[in-house]
Amino acid sequence: MNKKTLLLLACFAVSSAMNAQVTNDGKKISSDLFGIFFEDINYSADGGLYAEMVQNRSFEYSPRDRATWNSLSDWTFITPGYSGGLISVETAQPICANNPHYINLEIEHIGNVPQYKGEIGVGLVNSGFEGMVVRSGDRYNYSLFARQLSGSAVTMKVYLENNKGEKIGESNFTTSSDQWKQYSGSIIPSVSTDSARLVVLATSVGKISLDMISLFPEKTFKNRSNGMRADLAQLLADMKPRFVRFPGGCLVHGGGGLGNMYRWKNSIGPLEQRKGQSNGWGYHQNVGLGYYEYFQLCEDIEAKPLPVVPAGVCCQNAYGTWRVGGIGQQGLPMAEMPEYVQEVLDLIEWANGPATSTWGAKRAAAGHPAPFGLEYIGIGNEDHITPEFKERFKMIYEAVKARYPKIKVIGTAGPFYEGDDYEEGWKFAKELRVPIVDEHYYVKPEWFVDNQHRYDTYKRGEGEVYLGEYASQGNKLINAISEAAYMTSLERNGDVVRMASYAPLFAKKNFTQWNPDLIYFDNTKTYPTVNYLVQKAFSLNSGDTYYEGIIKKQAEDEKMGVSCVRDSKTGDIILKIANPKASSTKVMIDLSAFKHLAGNGTLNLIAGNAEDSNNFDHPDMVKEATSIIKVKKNFEYSVPAMSLSVIRIKKK
Ligand code: AHR
Repeated sequence: MNKKTLLLLACFAVSSAMNAQVTNDGKKISSDLFGIFFEDINYSADGGLYAEMVQNRSFEYSPRDRATWNSLSDWTFITPGYSGGLISVETAQPICANNPHYINLEIEHIGNVPQYKGEIGVGLVNSGFEGMVVRSGDRYNYSLFARQLSGSAVTMKVYLENNKGEKIGESNFTTSSDQWKQYSGSIIPSVSTDSARLVVLATSVGKISLDMISLFPEKTFKNRSNGMRADLAQLLADMKPRFVRFPGGCLVHGGGGLGNMYRWKNSIGPLEQRKGQSNGWGYHQNVGLGYYEYFQLCEDIEAKPLPVVPAGVCCQNAYGTWRVGGIGQQGLPMAEMPEYVQEVLDLIEWANGPATSTWGAKRAAAGHPAPFGLEYIGIGNEDHITPEFKERFKMIYEAVKARYPKIKVIGTAGPFYEGDDYEEGWKFAKELRVPIVDEHYYVKPEWFVDNQHRYDTYKRGEGEVYLGEYASQGNKLINAISEAAYMTSLERNGDVVRMASYAPLFAKKNFTQWNPDLIYFDNTKTYPTVNYLVQKAFSLNSGDTYYEGIIKKQAEDEKMGVSCVRDSKTGDIILKIANPKASSTKVMIDLSAFKHLAGNGTLNLIAGNAEDSNNFDHPDMVKEATSIIKVKKNFEYSVPAMSLSVIRIKKK
């Protein structure tokens, strides 16, 4: 070590040994630390990740979803040419009681007037979620259920038109059954447009019922039918998240009360038999993106599934608790609890049981004979820790523990980082020895910078933390770097923090109920926020062993977040330095504890001004820059202002 290095070292305090358990050999930390949390909020599912192009495909929209909605919302009845007929919403003979509404179309008369050159008939049009995006030459697969109510067959045209009403691709069929029957086909549009509409038109006289009118692009993520929008799913895959928590959030425990809790069995099986409902965020979830699709997505992006089930109580904000007369959290009647507990056990059998088991057979029938390998299950979300909650949680937890001792249950400790539910939730979880507890907090960036010691004092061996939802209330660089600083503390405490996921994940332009979010999108574009860049940088550069004292900070940089981890799969050493200050600084890096390291490292740098952010017009205003830097056993690194530096050093 030369004189200059020695002098510099003297100026740097070792980034304090905040955790007494640290040894020079490093300490084992969670290899599942950074994942994602998907909830159908902000049109994340229907109109978002779920690639269905038809809005209100099953005529189930209702005032329960939104006061102004009904079964015909987003549909327009048409009688082009000089045609005549009637449309009505029916419930008498549905395909399945879970999906009660359908329409009857009575085609009384097909005719034309000389000046009209378009298609003639009686039918309906759907514009999707603010227009359907189609590309010339690509294939779009439609399917619908029809039932012939008149003696004669009805000829049908299914076509795409542009916003001028010009047909750009079509497919035809003729009804052939007086029972519900599924018809399907493909449309290949001749032109590209972002504002296409789907038209379903009866072109002969008669009467039919219609339901489940669906259109999917063939090009979905991994080309799966009933699949995900490829660009959005790819952004998730690019993060290489260790796990995906789903389907919520508040959506799980039912903002609309007990009857609105997410019951996983309603979300599997044939699409026409699933039971959609309000998602509590002011719109409808058709659950086409249901448990099977969630598990399949996890497998496709190599992330562990983390389903969350209600703890037998509904949301404490249900039934308008915040209004005078609201009644808040309710528990399922105790008489229903044994059946509910069984529902949770059935989920684990569905995910992990052999294809010969009752519920494993349903998974196999859906196309996945091999078990999904479920390891985690969340019970409850931010629930108020009341006697009703405790009684029901305990029943579910003990049943899962007894039947599936290897499954790791995640309990809940309320919606804040402190307070009654937090205290009571943790106390209760410790009494029951719940292995992992879910904490949530949405707080200012300063909080994240100032609270990097939060987990240093959590007792080891008394339950691990899943930081299931967190965000620093903004999408500026200052927010992202503050989160990054905090994430270094999650790594440092990776022996007690097992998992963490930013929230919410997605938000659709013009359909957003909650800001900030990690990824914004519209029908054609996406822009990953600076917060996304940070999440991705941590996820792609996580390790399983943490080393203390490698990065030495100056005393005035106490609030800069630093960490050093090793990834045992590659042997790489990864350094992270998150500087939430508006000025640059220096750190000393001491790699003498490691042998056989390469003489250079890859630096991924996210840096800029505190107020910088990405947006639809400038999706890349802040981006990660990659360069190669020289590294030595002891070297000085200049840390840019407002930045996250990730330095990966390979084994020689
Ligand atoms: O992430 C948005 C919401 O925040 C979640 O649904 C809920 O769990 C939390 O209150």
